[in-house]
Amino acid sequence: CGIVAHHGTRPALPVLLDGLGRLEYRGYDSVGIALDPGGGASPHVHRSAGRLPALVAALPPEADEPTTGIGHTRWATHGPPVPANAHPHRDCTGRVALVHNGTLSDANRLRAELAAQGHLVATEVDSELVAHRIEDALPLVPALADVVAAVAAAVRGLRGAWALAVLVAGVDGVVLARRGSPLLVGSAPGRRMAASDELGLDPAVTEARELPEGHLAALGDEVTWFDADARPVPAPLPWPLAGRAATADRGDAPDFTAKEIDEQPAAARRLLDGLLGRLADGRLLTDLGLARPDRVRLVACGTSRHAAEVVARVLAVEGGVPSRVVTASEADLAVPEPGTLTMALSQSGETADVLAALDRWDDPVLALTNAPRSSLARRADAVLGLGCGPEIGVAATKTFTAQVIAGVAVALAIASASGRLAPARLAALEQVLDGLPARLAASAALAAAPAAALADELADRPGAVFVSRGAGVPYAQEGALKLEELAYRWVEALPAGELKHGPIALLGPGTPVVVVGAEPRERLAVGIAEVTARGARTVLVGSGEDADLPVCLPAEEPPWGPLEAAVALQLFAREVTVRLGHEVDRPRNLAKSVTVE
Ligand code: G6P
Repeated sequence: CGIVAHHGTRPALPVLLDGLGRLEYRGYDSVGIALDPGGGASPHVHRSAGRLPALVAALPPEADEPTTGIGHTRWATHGPPVPANAHPHRDCTGRVALVHNGTLSDANRLRAELAAQGHLVATEVDSELVAHRIEDALPLVPALADVVAAVAAAVRGLRGAWALAVLVAGVDGVVLARRGSPLLVGSAPGRRMAASDELGLDPAVTEARELPEGHLAALGDEVTWFDADARPVPAPLPWPLAGRAATADRGDAPDFTAKEIDEQPAAARRLLDGLLGRLADGRLLTDLGLARPDRVRLVACGTSRHAAEVVARVLAVEGGVPSRVVTASEADLAVPEPGTLTMALSQSGETADVLAALDRWDDPVLALTNAPRSSLARRADAVLGLGCGPEIGVAATKTFTAQVIAGVAVALAIASASGRLAPARLAALEQVLDGLPARLAASAALAAAPAAALADELADRPGAVFVSRGAGVPYAQEGALKLEELAYRWVEALPAGELKHGPIALLGPGTPVVVVGAEPRERLAVGIAEVTARGARTVLVGSGEDADLPVCLPAEEPPWGPLEAAVALQLFAREVTVRLGHEVDRPRNLAKSVTVE
């Protein structure tokens, strides 16, 4: 979810709506705002299911006037995405309205407690409970300082994560509180505002300050800062917001996903130009201010986790460096080990599972992210930016290829620093990397028409199985995830050898079995024979002449595997999605970055 708050002398509405539009990558199930009408009246709340245009269409003309307001774009956790569950939430009297990013882990206990005290809780949403607790702690005629004290009291003892922005009837300002979820504060002439991240702040805001963990702040005539007990504290240090990316333009492309798939060769080129030549003896590590680690922990979710799998393999094959891929939401199972470098891969840098996982270890953190000023980047000891430009399509495409490239570069630098990767071998691998942008472009060109034809043939199949071996497995998993995310198809992705141990039972006549990186073919021949014998429709993705989805692979498979196949699989998933009539850039139920655990 994303939140935004505004207080000042200028109208709040345009700034709130603009900010919410830029925060939609954090969720777009439903959206809402609350505005302070002044004169001591309760905040006016406007909410819609779905995305921002639905809310805008329903706003009354008087919404243009207020200068104080809060807004929220939601990714549903508690309660379905209907208007009643959308934020802002109110207490029973309606005088408190709040927006919340995060989840409360003790919502059931709080709900029972409030019900026992006679509160009428209207929704299934955990956030509403906080509104009731704040109302309980407010005096009859509160000032802004009373709201700060009431919010501090309301969140005391809560479990879970929150970024909150609170409006109270008759109080000129907004109160903010944060634990676990980020909140940035900035000012511009006539406005003081807060948002979940830089994107949510108005472009006129030139510097941001992060609300410290556990603290509160008030947007009044000026911004004031408080500790958890509502005692005033100095303002945290600001950082400049210069150079924020302009709003992405999809140009002639039919959707952002198509455009971003196309941008991969150029993005890869830019990234490689900054990395090649810095790998020998681990220079890249030195440049990043990192020591050579004895072992590496890679932490990520979703697509980024597939990139992490590729990096782990390169570390092992080229450097003999032990590593572990930790699914961020399962981080509590990971054992601390000395001499570890944690590599956190997250295109958005805002994924709550990744941020929470990092709290478990004290090792240095290297962030691989496309958002070099995100929460992850601020938390990390070193940042390797992907420099892909904005990725608007919710399903990651160019950030995946970029994460693989950046991660492989770090892995080779570590391997070289450890003395296990000979200079000649490193030089040869750098050359293969250097040719990657051209191969990605060639693969896109080769696969485009076959991907469309295959989509015509296979779009109506209810599911598919993706297999590969060795270095190809993460790409099979990533291709499967694209189909799942975009086309809402059930998929299995697994090493080909595992098929016969159970999943082969899924296959019937015509079931698509997508075989990724089938070169050299012998390594997959048995698996292909097994599924063909059961009448499955094999779809070979590779550089052989018999490939159904042809791609351009290097003559010898590099340790990072058939990255070029990722482009073909993205094209295929997109083509299927178009045929099914689903919205390509904004799949149902997803968010570009899930900011709750
Ligand atoms: C969400 C997205 C996925 C993405 C994952 C990790 O679940 O829907 O497409 O791979 O988050 O995102 P991150 O920003 O951490 O790479």
